[in-house]
Amino acid sequence: MTKCGECKPLQMASISLSEEEIWAAVEVLRSGALRQGKQCDAFEAEFAAFVGAQYAVASANGSAALHLAYMAFLNPGDEVLVPAFTFIATGSMVTVAGGRPVICDVDPETFLIDLADAERRVTPRTRAISPVHLFGNPCAIDAVQAFAARHNLRIVWDAAQAHGARFHGRDVGSSGDFAAYSFYPSKNMFVGEGGMTCTNNKEFEHRMRYMRSHGQTGKYLHTMLGLNYRMTDVEAAIGRKQLHRLDDMLATRRRNAAILNEGLSGIPGIFPQRLTPGGEHAWHQYCVLVDETVFGRDRDGLAAKLQEDGIATGVHYPRGLHQQPVFQELYGYEPLPVTERLACQILALPVHHGLEDGDVSRIVDVVASVRS
Ligand SMILES: Cc1ncc(COP(=O)(O)O)c(C=O)c1O
Repeated sequence: MTKCGECKPLQMASISLSEEEIWAAVEVLRSGALRQGKQCDAFEAEFAAFVGAQYAVASANGSAALHLAYMAFLNPGDEVLVPAFTFIATGSMVTVAGGRPVICDVDPETFLIDLADAERRVTPRTRAISPVHLFGNPCAIDAVQAFAARHNLRIVWDAAQAHGARFHGRDVGSSGDFAAYSFYPSKNMFVGEGGMTCTNNKEFEHRMRYMRSHGQTGKYLHTMLGLNYRMTDVEAAIGRKQLHRLDDMLATRRRNAAILNEGLSGIPGIFPQRLTPGGEHAWHQYCVLVDETVFGRDRDGLAAKLQEDGIATGVHYPRGLHQQPVFQELYGYEPLPVTERLACQILALPVHHGLEDGDVSRIVDVVASVRS
């Protein structure tokens, strides 16, 4: 129960499927052709066209999409530079694929991988960099590409949160060796469970396609190791329909974010994520830093106040990868000061496509009222 009895509760995500999406799923269910098939083939082609990539390989989830990318080129012991401030899969899939994630600090304003810190961690074993377009904020693609070229590295973009994000007018899925997406509920596209890895490299596309299905290259003929990471046609059918409304959903997220930016930027002690210059944010999450010394309440205090008013919030992420017990046990611990500060101060506010202008203004008003 909220104290604000008459206020409409605002959730962190809107995950209702459209009628069209539901009927597309029903049609597949009726047909009985549930496994990966024609719907998946079509979804791959349509998603690749949408982001401007040559190829796309559908998979069971975003973690699988990353795992397939890493498996396509990593050798045992290869190092991959990853940001500390991200979801576990960015790093853990490197380990699962036989490599070693080398965890880097992030920029205090954009929250994206800090290339200067990454530079210090390059060794002769470094094989790749895996920047995350965190919360939908696109990385500076040109700077990462220059970095990768200088050190002869592959790039695996973690685009799990970045459907529709652009850098200098180009979709983030169109560049580089790999861009891995998730279609988990709460993401900008949501089909249940699902993933997609985009690439412009024919050989990588081939490898990922076969590895997704136990390395099977003929009937009961397995020429490489793989897993069962297939997507079902039910999810693909939903995804195909949903792709048609992605632009509209993004437009609403962008409008909501603009209202939040406008209203919150002037509040002392509240620091919204800074958009990468040249980027178009996809606003999977709208996150601010709460500086208690200026704002007068800490992150958790603000979250509690918003909750009283029926406004849900989230903490992404309460610890960096280097603070995760699993990585500390495997690789030890070294402090990463920016990530650790962000983990204490970050707060995600609702920004999704299901909100109306009045809902978003209410969020601003409640935050402002705490400070005044
Ligand atoms: C940055 C990032 N990478 C990877 C993933 C993994 O995606 P999935 O949950 O679909 O496996 C997520 C999902 O939360 C994510 O946010």
